[in-house]
Amino acid sequence: MLPLGLVIPLLIPLLPLTFAHNIYELNTEYAGPTFFDEWGFFDNFDNLTEGSAIYVSAQVGASEKLAFVNEAGNAIIKVDNTTKLKDGAFRNTVRIQTNAVHGLGSLWVADMVHVPYGCSVWPAWWSSAPSWPASGEIDTFEYVNLMPNGQMALHTLPGCTLDDSPSNKFTGLINSTDCSFEFNSNQGCVVQNTNSTAYGEGFANAGGGVFVTEFGVDGISIWFFTRSAIPATLQNGTGDINTTMLGTPVANFPASTCNLSFIEPQHLTLNIDLCGAFAGDPTIFAQTCSGSCYQDYVIGPPSTYDTAYFEIKSIRTYHDPLFPNAIVIPPPPNITQAAPPIFTGQPFAAAPGVQGNIGWALICSLFAILFLGLTEGLL
Ligand SMILES: *[C@@H]1O[C@H](CO)[C@@H](O)[C@H](O)[C@H]1NC(C)=O
Ligand SMILES: *[C@@H]1O[C@H](CO)[C@@H](O)[C@H](O)[C@H]1NC(C)=O
Ligand SMILES: *[C@@H]1O[C@H](CO)[C@@H](O)[C@H](O)[C@H]1NC(C)=O
Ligand SMILES: *[C@@H]1O[C@H](CO)[C@@H](O)[C@H](O)[C@H]1NC(C)=O
Ligand SMILES: *[C@@H]1O[C@H](CO)[C@@H](O)[C@H](O)[C@H]1NC(C)=O
Ligand SMILES: *[C@@H]1O[C@H](CO)[C@@H](O)[C@H](O)[C@H]1NC(C)=O
Ligand SMILES: *[C@@H]1O[C@H](CO)[C@@H](O)[C@H](O)[C@H]1NC(C)=O
Ligand SMILES: *[C@@H]1O[C@H](CO)[C@@H](O)[C@H](O)[C@H]1NC(C)=O
Repeated sequence: MLPLGLVIPLLIPLLPLTFAHNIYELNTEYAGPTFFDEWGFFDNFDNLTEGSAIYVSAQVGASEKLAFVNEAGNAIIKVDNTTKLKDGAFRNTVRIQTNAVHGLGSLWVADMVHVPYGCSVWPAWWSSAPSWPASGEIDTFEYVNLMPNGQMALHTLPGCTLDDSPSNKFTGLINSTDCSFEFNSNQGCVVQNTNSTAYGEGFANAGGGVFVTEFGVDGISIWFFTRSAIPATLQNGTGDINTTMLGTPVANFPASTCNLSFIEPQHLTLNIDLCGAFAGDPTIFAQTCSGSCYQDYVIGPPSTYDTAYFEIKSIRTYHDPLFPNAIVIPPPPNITQAAPPIFTGQPFAAAPGVQGNIGWALICSLFAILFLGLTEGLL
C-alpha cells in the first residue's frame, strides 16, 4: 500500500479530468493603460475589402487619438471624426489584432460600453488565422450602417456546417448553414442576434454589455449579455468562468457537424471599416441609409463618425485547464534585428464574412510570393 502522502499528489493531477470542459481559467487581460501593448496595428489602407479606410499605425493612433485609453481607463478605438476630407481621400480609422493566438480550448470575453455605428460604418469583433480563409474565421459580431441586428458566423474549409436541428439550442436566427468559404462567395454559416441591446444605440443606451466566444472541444459558442444581466461567473474578477452558468448561447456551432481542426489558432481582431464590400454595397446600404456611402459620409461631415467608436473596459482570454497551451503569446520581437519580417503567407485576413474577395486576395498573395521569389533569385 502506498503511503497517503504519495497517493494524494498522484490523485491531484487527475482531478481536472472530472471537469467536463466547462471551466476556463484566466490567461491574459487586455485593459487599462497597457491595453494596446500586445496588439499589432494594420498600418495600411484597406487593401482587402475595397473600404474607404486607412488603418493607422500605433503612433498615429495615439497622436490623433484614434486608439488610446481614456480617463475612465477604457480603450477607445475610433474613426477620425474631425477631418474634412477632399474628394478621393480615405478616412483614418483603426484595425488591430492580438499578437497571441487562440486555439482549441480557449475562450475570450469582451466587456464593452460602446460599439461603433452610423451610415458607412462597418465594425467587427472577430478572429482569424494567418492563412485566411482556409485556416478558419470566427465572427463574434459584425454589422453595417444602421442595421438593427448584428451577425455571428464561422468561415471554414468545405465540410463544416451549422447544425440546424432542434436539438442544437441557441437564441439567434439562422441565415445560412454552410460554413465553407467556397459557398456563396464566402457567406459563411451566419446567425443573427436579434437582441436590440446588442448593437448600436441600443447597446450604448443599456451601458453596453459582454460578448463571450468559446472555442471549446464541444464546439464554438457565442453569448451576449446586456450590462444589467451579466451572470455571476463573468463577474468573478480573475477567477474561473463556468460556461454552464452562461445559459443558452445566442449562436452555437457544435463540433458534431463542424470539424474543429478546420479552425487554426486565431488572432483576435477589432476593426472599423468604411463602406467597402459590405457596408458600401448599394443594396445593403440603401436598406438603412440614404445617399452615397462615400460622397455623403466618408467625405461628408466628419460628425457622421461621432458614434463610430469602440469603448472597451477589458478583453480577457481564458483557457481550459486541460489545454494549458491553447493560447500562445509570441515572445517580444528582437528589436536589435533590422531585417524585415519574412513573408509567411497572408498575415492579415481580408475581413469578416466578406463576399467575393478571396480570388483577389489569393492572386495578391501569389504575386507577393512570386515577387519575393524573384527578389531572392536576384540577390
Ligand atoms: C437573416 O435571417 C433573419 C431571420 O430569418 C431575416 O430577418 C434577415 O433578413 C436575414 N438576413 C439576411 C441578410 O439574409
Ligand atoms: C436581450 O438580452 C438580454 C440578456 O443580455 C435579455 O435580458 C433580454 O431579454 C434580451 N432581449 C430580447 C428582446 O431578446
Ligand atoms: C470564481 O472562481 C473561483 C476560482 O477561480 C471558482 O472557485 C468559483 O467557482 C468561481 N465562481 C463562479 C461564480 O463561477
Ligand atoms: C458549473 O455550474 C453548474 C451550473 O450552475 C454547476 O452545476 C457546476 O457544479 C459548476 N461547476 C463547478 C466546477 O463549479
Ligand atoms: C478533421 O480534420 C482533420 C484535418 O483536416 C483530419 O485530420 C481529421 O481526420 C478530421 N476529423 C474528422 C472526424 O473528420
Ligand atoms: C468625435 O467623437 C468623440 C467620441 O468618440 C466625441 O467625444 C467628440 O465630441 C466628437 N467630435 C469632435 C469634433 O471631436
Ligand atoms: C537579436 O538580434 C541580434 C542581432 O541580429 C542577434 O545577435 C541576437 O542573437 C538576437 N537575439 C535573439 C534572442 O534572437
Ligand atoms: C495589405 O496590407 C498589408 C499591410 O501592409 C500587407 O501585409 C498585405 O500583404 C497587403 N495585402 C494585399 C492583398 O495587398
